[in-house]
Amino acid sequence: MIHLLVATPLVGLVLWLIARLAQRAFRNLPPGPKGLPLVGNILRAADNDWLASPQRRDDYGDLMYLSVFGQGILVVNSQRVAVDLLEKRSNIYSDRPQSISLNEFLTESLLFVFTGYSDLWRRLRRPAVEGFSKSIVSDFYPIQNREAIMLALSLIKSPPMKKHFQRHSWSIILSINYHLPPVESEDDPVIVGIVNHVERVLHEIEPGARLVEYFPWMRYIPNKLAKWKRDAQYWFIQDSLMYERLLGKVADDLAKGIDQPSFGATLIKNREKYRLSEREQAWLVGSMLSAGGETTSTALHWWLLALLVHPEVQVRARAELDEVVGYARPPTFADLPSLPYIRAMVKETLRWSPAIPFSVPHASSADDWYDGMFIPKGTVVLPNVNLINSDSTVFGSDSASFNPARYLDEKGQVKPLMEGREEGHVSFGYGRRVCPGKYVAEGTLGIDFATLLWALRFERPEGAEGELDVRTLVHTGIGAYPVPFECRAVPRFAEAETLLKEALDLYE
Ligand code: HEM
Repeated sequence: MIHLLVATPLVGLVLWLIARLAQRAFRNLPPGPKGLPLVGNILRAADNDWLASPQRRDDYGDLMYLSVFGQGILVVNSQRVAVDLLEKRSNIYSDRPQSISLNEFLTESLLFVFTGYSDLWRRLRRPAVEGFSKSIVSDFYPIQNREAIMLALSLIKSPPMKKHFQRHSWSIILSINYHLPPVESEDDPVIVGIVNHVERVLHEIEPGARLVEYFPWMRYIPNKLAKWKRDAQYWFIQDSLMYERLLGKVADDLAKGIDQPSFGATLIKNREKYRLSEREQAWLVGSMLSAGGETTSTALHWWLLALLVHPEVQVRARAELDEVVGYARPPTFADLPSLPYIRAMVKETLRWSPAIPFSVPHASSADDWYDGMFIPKGTVVLPNVNLINSDSTVFGSDSASFNPARYLDEKGQVKPLMEGREEGHVSFGYGRRVCPGKYVAEGTLGIDFATLLWALRFERPEGAEGELDVRTLVHTGIGAYPVPFECRAVPRFAEAETLLKEALDLYE
């Protein structure tokens, strides 16, 4: 009894102290806009233009904290803080926000881009990094070279550009992953299957899409009473079958002794080393596929828009191509080391308008303090990529313009410009989660830019009026396209088309 009398006030005191400390911590959250009761800053968080405005850094500084339905979101407005948190403290900032409907039902956590920071993620990440490393990606050059030529030919034949960019980007990534022949159109059933899968995933992670995210007990509702659960489980089986069938073809080829370079083949041949089940392998290749298709196509759109707004950039690139490649054959990967302006253009394209303006969200897996501010466990962390990529102290006062030459030194050679970042921007993300496809993406864009500018001149169609809109972002899930615009591709010289066709024959 006496124990109880002493213990009760003690327990009370401890609880009171914990509550006070927690309250104090939450009073020290980073600054941010005032929100509405319960819903918090939902309108602000949904408005990417508001979030990305340089005014936000002036208003709140390098860290801005918002709350949406109780979910903390930290927007990081400077490279210094992004590196401090996402790289130097990557042990606690490498998780992803966990969506119950996505991770437990629709993908069973196998869609590696959204897999939580866990042993499963580590097992999936290692083969992805090794299979797309700087030294391996040269195996894919013939695929990328062939596709760049095909893209140039299709742009000569017919606008609009969008469908060609999409066919091209998916076709490359399908060939790299499964060594498939080029797909004929963006309506190919394989592409449609993957695009539908990506759309389902993006729908699932939209804030407010599923009540279960706010009332987690709903995950236990019996299937027959929860259509969303039945649907998600149905699509998990369908998508698993789709990815297993695609990888199965590679396995069949290997069994017949046909061993062509592809990420799928690397995985199958190293099954013991990577300790992945067949289903995990299939989803890993599927993850590389779904992450790599749309992003490349988005970057091509921004590049084309930049060329229309800055015709002087086309002129300078063509001068470099004329000198190094000449008019007798289209460029190949062997030319790229001698084309610094083209390589600088890859960096500038990804810097000038990143395909994923707030990266793929990270999440913190432990409470943390930074500069006297409290960052609670489970906070969603968004690096403000647009803002960081346009920091005038790094990129100069003309950082809003598209100017590849900013990446050239006085000898005309490429320089990274940004400390600790060989790619020269932060559009591939941060730390342990940094994009594993970045070398392949740079290769695709490099050979595409060289081939397209060698063969074609890009201009606005006659009669096109008004200024081109370079700042409005048309959001598609986590990515962002420019506002649609018209463009005409005109062959630069009479033999361009014939030479492209002859070069394509070499890849048949
Ligand atoms: C222009 C092209 C691309 C851009 C701008 C881009 C950008 C990004 C970004 C911002 C992230 C998130 C990084 C982070 O969380 O900090 C990411 C992750 C990822 N990217 Fe890319 N990417 C591109 C192309 C590709 C390609 C071609 C592939 C596949 C071959 C790919 C595969 C992935 C995967 C699997 C992840 C998830 C990594 C993880 O969560 O551990 N990406 N990418």
